[in-house]
Amino acid sequence: MNYLSLFPDSTRATDTGLNIGGCDLTTLAETYGTPLYLYDQATLDTAAVLYKQTLDKQYPGKSGITYAGKAYLCLAMAQWTQQQDLWVDCTGQGEMAIVVAAGVKRERLVVHGVNKSPQDLETAIRQAGTIVVDHLTELERLISMSSNEPLPDLWLRFQPGVEVETHAHIQTGQEGSKFGMDRETILQAAGICHRQGLPLKGLHFHLGSQIREPVPLTPAIERALDMAVEIGFEADWTLSPGGGWGVAYNEGELPQPDTKGYIHFIAEAIVKGCEQRNMPLPLLQLEPGRSLVARAGVAVYRVGAVKRAGERTWVLLDGGLADNPRHALYGVNYSALVVKRPSAPNEIKVCLAGPYCESGDVLSMDLPLPKVEMGELVAVPVSGAYQLSMSSNYNGACRPAVVWLADGQAQLIQERETPADLLRRDHRLNI
Ligand code: LLP
Repeated sequence: MNYLSLFPDSTRATDTGLNIGGCDLTTLAETYGTPLYLYDQATLDTAAVLYKQTLDKQYPGKSGITYAGKAYLCLAMAQWTQQQDLWVDCTGQGEMAIVVAAGVKRERLVVHGVNKSPQDLETAIRQAGTIVVDHLTELERLISMSSNEPLPDLWLRFQPGVEVETHAHIQTGQEGSKFGMDRETILQAAGICHRQGLPLKGLHFHLGSQIREPVPLTPAIERALDMAVEIGFEADWTLSPGGGWGVAYNEGELPQPDTKGYIHFIAEAIVKGCEQRNMPLPLLQLEPGRSLVARAGVAVYRVGAVKRAGERTWVLLDGGLADNPRHALYGVNYSALVVKRPSAPNEIKVCLAGPYCESGDVLSMDLPLPKVEMGELVAVPVSGAYQLSMSSNYNGACRPAVVWLADGQAQLIQERETPADLLRRDHRLNI
């Protein structure tokens, strides 16, 4: 296995160390400071094209890709989705504001959310092409709001009652989950839509995230198709079987899950299922987040100190839990390379940890690494999804700068937060 396998496609090891998208990482860290997040456009483009071309082949003329904005969203990322002709899934008015500012057209905006606020719903009615209805109360709310403005297309979120093998915190489609509606409730919702003449146009489900095995999709697709028959969907409806396809975060998880195989599996299950039911094929809209962007992202940290404690060697970085809570939340162990010496042989096992007051502020336990020293840079791969989008200001941490790498050019797409940003929302007490 190549030691750069987890890194973006354009990564090279040169005499001066790691280089991504034609840019030297040491120079980037000196220019923009650390912790620093990098996105490699070449890797993003390759991932999007792989999704589109495979779908075109396996499910010709009736499919599309929606980028799950929750994985990572900012103006530049939203602009990139439009270069690739993707739709974008938003949760709530904050994400909608970003994609609208980036010029995403209404018909490409899909709005999800398990408890959309009245403001979220108002914004969605004004700006989205599709709202995915999570429950009956939301449907009633939408109906009461639709007297002023016509509703966008509605999809119903189905809870298929299928449990996938992944961390419990990121299972979503199992029975009893907080997401979506079971069969009876979906049929009730569809009945309401029919009686009220609402634009009911599809079904959505999402089984969970970081899935590496497509087999559980079969019963979920089967149940969704059965329901489509009961609802009376004919040619012009959309089936959205979510995203959820996983990535490898460290060498032990390689090879990367096979995205082509996953798409092939879904397309075949739908085609077969429709044949058996003698129904026309629905439009198929896939909704990947992580499998599109995770591997395009790299986080660069500077080592502040190396500390021995009992049997352990702690490599203390200038970031961690506040920009990446995923080890604390899901036990993920990240890989890393020393930026100046990426091919140096591993000599010791270290724990990569951050500066925050929390024992869970860790990126990796027992990671084989060369001996590193204070002041060196380390690069953490597969950092493009659900890191910055779940980042926090814990301990007054300032969110990192983000740089976009394309064709040998680096462009700052998000400024580093400053302590002044932390004070911006605050008001003094009148005392
Ligand atoms: N569509 C919907 C409605 C979703 O809720 C999600 C993810 C996706 C698509 C995209 O799923 P993906 O392909 O990225 O797995 N914070 C967790 C992940 C939570 C994802 C929740 N929903 C993590 O860091 O692993």
